[in-house]
Amino acid sequence: MSMNQVSSKMQLIDRFGRRVNYLRISITDRCDFRCVYCMSEEMTFLPRAQILTLEEIYTLAETFTELGINKIRITGGEPLIRRGALDLLEKIGSLQGLDELVLTSNGSQLDKMAGKLKTAGIKRINVSLDTLNAEKFRRLTRTGDLQQVLKGIQAAKSAGFERLKINAVILKNRNHNEVTDLVQFAVDQDIDISFIEEMPLGYVDEHNRGETYYSSDQIKTDLDKRFELLPTPEKTGGPAKYFRISGSTSKVGFISPHSHNFCSTCNRVRITAEGRLLLCLGNEHSIDLKRVIRANPGDKEVLKQSIIKAMLIKPERHEFNIKEQPIIMRHMSVTGG
Ligand code: GTP
Ligand code: 5AD
Ligand code: SF4
Repeated sequence: MSMNQVSSKMQLIDRFGRRVNYLRISITDRCDFRCVYCMSEEMTFLPRAQILTLEEIYTLAETFTELGINKIRITGGEPLIRRGALDLLEKIGSLQGLDELVLTSNGSQLDKMAGKLKTAGIKRINVSLDTLNAEKFRRLTRTGDLQQVLKGIQAAKSAGFERLKINAVILKNRNHNEVTDLVQFAVDQDIDISFIEEMPLGYVDEHNRGETYYSSDQIKTDLDKRFELLPTPEKTGGPAKYFRISGSTSKVGFISPHSHNFCSTCNRVRITAEGRLLLCLGNEHSIDLKRVIRANPGDKEVLKQSIIKAMLIKPERHEFNIKEQPIIMRHMSVTGG
């Protein structure tokens, strides 16, 4: 049996028996927004030579697919502001063995790109939307325009993706009083919504994360006053726990890294914009795949062996403490969540 046949039968399994089948690729650390929970007002971005080329990203996507990855999510920063993103997505979308190519976006470019993304083979899009109030939207994103994002959501709806979902990071005394309105918006638009507890990644200067913590249970209590939420075992392969909203087609998800740890079922790894394979969002365990690719041009077997070996250092779980300064200095924009 050749080396190629051996590795093509392999799966990615870590020390805790978790099978990794979901890869998240950040294709740029840059973004046109500066969300207060994600970035500081002044950010330094990576120089071009330090980030993966589009060809290198494709090679990685192809190699991971051969190792049993069947879901790829493209993230950023804002992935759609990278030049050449569409062509790359189209190429990744036609990889054999991939069941789902999905995208996480801030929505700013969807108005002009939604149709092309559908054609490129994107199945689902998750759009960040934390408030329906234009002024508050500007304050939370520092540079974003709510109308532009709402137009983007409409364009994505018209393009006919399998499912659209809003991601809302909820901060106490900033947008916690909007959870009901956000769910009503999702119901009216026939889309899904996930609420996310803020994670302490990278230093942010705008608020104290301990003080703005608002738990998923609190959100659920707020929602129970207006909606009937029915537990459902449905999964999307991500960390959200879902409820169906009675009388609608929408579901509400809760992503609760602090209050309901989901690490025991973790099925994912990430590639950062600079080509680091990150084994956990809340830890720094990683290997430098950019170095492996550049040191062994065209040698996919070396790459595969590096990836398989990396599974041995996937940590059991994240240990976030929202009350203290972050231990992980990497901002969310480097991994796209
Ligand atoms: P679906 O395919 O719809 O399930 O998407 P997803 O939830 O996997 O992806 P998305 O990019 O929408 O991420 C939503 C939130 O979940 C972001 O804030 C991510 O940081 C967070 N998230 C995703 N995976 C992990 C994880 O492994 N650990 C932690 N702590 N957070 C995660
Ligand atoms: N904690 C939790 N979620 C975050 N996001 C960005 N920064 C953070 C953070 N520190 C969210 C974005 C986007 C998703 C990929 O991650 O709002 O919806
Ligand atoms: Fe950009 Fe997303 Fe970070 Fe907001 S959360 S600054 S949209 S990468």
